[in-house]
Order: sequence, then structure tokens, then C-alpha cells
Amino acid sequence: MSITSFPERQGSARPKVTTTTIQEKKQRREPITCLTAYDYPSARLVDEAGIDMILVGDSLAMVVLGYENTLPVTVDEMLHHTRAVRRAVKSALLIADMPFASYHESVKEGVHNALRFVKEAGAEAVKVEGGEKRIELVRHILDAEIPVMGHIGLTPQSIHKMGGYKVQGKDLGGIERLIKDAIALDRAGVFTIVLEGLPREVAAMISKEVSAATIGIGAGPDCDGQVLVFHDILNLTFSPPAKFVRRYGDAAAVISKAVEQFRTDVASGGYPSDAESYHLPKETKEALDAIMARKQMRKAAMSR
Ligand code: KIV
Repeated sequence: MSITSFPERQGSARPKVTTTTIQEKKQRREPITCLTAYDYPSARLVDEAGIDMILVGDSLAMVVLGYENTLPVTVDEMLHHTRAVRRAVKSALLIADMPFASYHESVKEGVHNALRFVKEAGAEAVKVEGGEKRIELVRHILDAEIPVMGHIGLTPQSIHKMGGYKVQGKDLGGIERLIKDAIALDRAGVFTIVLEGLPREVAAMISKEVSAATIGIGAGPDCDGQVLVFHDILNLTFSPPAKFVRRYGDAAAVISKAVEQFRTDVASGGYPSDAESYHLPKETKEALDAIMARKQMRKAAMSR
């Protein structure tokens, strides 16, 4: 283990983002920013870059834990990562994603798990996938004083029901369902709605219709804000990006180059150098040298 430590952050340079800040941004038509993060260093970088909201998404199942889809990640795993993110975030609004099977059996269980994210991990809001059919759950979570982010369109927890990850709302029936879902969530009182994998025209209609802020991912530029997955924008997913992903950096290339260089340096004896080593204090070194010299002399005398 390294003895490197993270220096304490001395407060934050910007004011705390709250659900009110987000709603005010929508009213002022100021674009809202959101990124996922799953651990301390990434969350700290995202927060310090001034992003409004940080989502501990269940996408961590895939991008951090290596699962094929989001379904296997558990509440305990999500809590573990949310706590790490909580320790890093000072200003951004911290939202925890409710994973598959954490609210599907009963409203009671859903509220219980939402409370755990706030009480045990410091989340300030939770995200739930689904529209009309989740309204009772959303109302109960709100009654427990927890703000809710809705999520409609391509909802990855419904992968088997959808028959794969498919853009939603491409026909009139689909558009009507999505609008009904968005209105129901809005009336129930969610503060934001993630619109994932929708034609931009549909996302634009919904964004005009609801008072909750819409946060798009693969839903075009007319949403009130945008969210992307941290690992997607940094090329850390080992797969070709979806159409809507813009790569802002190549962390895979940076990391691979650094790791290969470390291997080469150790193999060639180039690491560590003397400057990268600790040294004995002068007096201890002199005392040790004297002991070694005496030992050497005794050894030489005995071999004569
Ligand atoms: O899990 C996730 O990362 C998400 C966002 C992409 C919206 O749900």
C-alpha cells in the first residue's frame, strides 16, 4: 500500500447545489450538467470541475464491476460506492441510483432502500427507473423526504422486457406512452427526469411539457441538461462508444502508457532511482559503516 494521502479539501469554491438550484436553472434555461462517478478520485475531479449533479449510476455494474448489464449490482455494492463518492463531493448534488430488485417487489421495500441510501451513504436524492407504474413508489419516497429523479425511455433495468437496448418512442404509441410517463412523474413531484435513448423531437416535447428538469442521455440537445457516464467520456469502457457519446479524453491510452513504462523501468533497473529512495540519517549511516568495517576486519583476521 502507498503512503500517499489525499489532502483535506478546504471547503468548496462554489455554493452547494440543491434540488432548488436545479429547478431554478431550468426556469432560467441554464443547461444543467450531470456525470456519473463511482469512487473517491473520480467524484472529486467531477465535483471540482463544477458539475451540478453527480449520479452514482447502476452503470457501475458494467463499467466498474465488469458485469454484462446493470441487473446484478446489489444495494450493498451501490451503498459502498455511494459512500466513497460522498466523501469526495462538497458542492454537487449527490444522487444514488436504486438498483434492479431494490424497489420491484414492494413499495415498502423501495422506500426502505431509498432511506438506506440517504442514511447510510449520504445521498441527497435517489433515481428510480420507470414512469406511470412507479408513481406510488415515487410518492412514498417523496413522503419520506427524499427527492426523486425519474428515468424513462431506454431504461437499462428493463433490458429483457425491451429485448435489448433500443431507442424508445419511435412510433406514435411509444411517444404517447412516454409523454404520459413524464407527466405522471412530474405531477408526482420528481425534481428531474432522465430521458434516455429518445428521438430528440420527443425529448424536446417532454422538456417543454414538464416542470421537472429533463436530463438527457442520447436524447438530443433540447433537454434541460445532459448526463454522461464518466468512463464513456474518457474511453475506459473497452467497447465502441454509442452514437451519443462524445469522448473528451483517452484515459485508457494515458494509463496503458504509464503502466507499460513502469514495467519497462522496473525490468531495466531504472526504477527506483536513488532520489526515489529513503536514506539513513548521517549518524546512523556512520555507525552502521563502522560496524560493517569491524565485521569485515574480524572476517579477514579469521581467514588468515
Ligand atoms: O446508471 C447510469 O449511469 C444511468 C445514467 C446514464 C442516467 O442511469
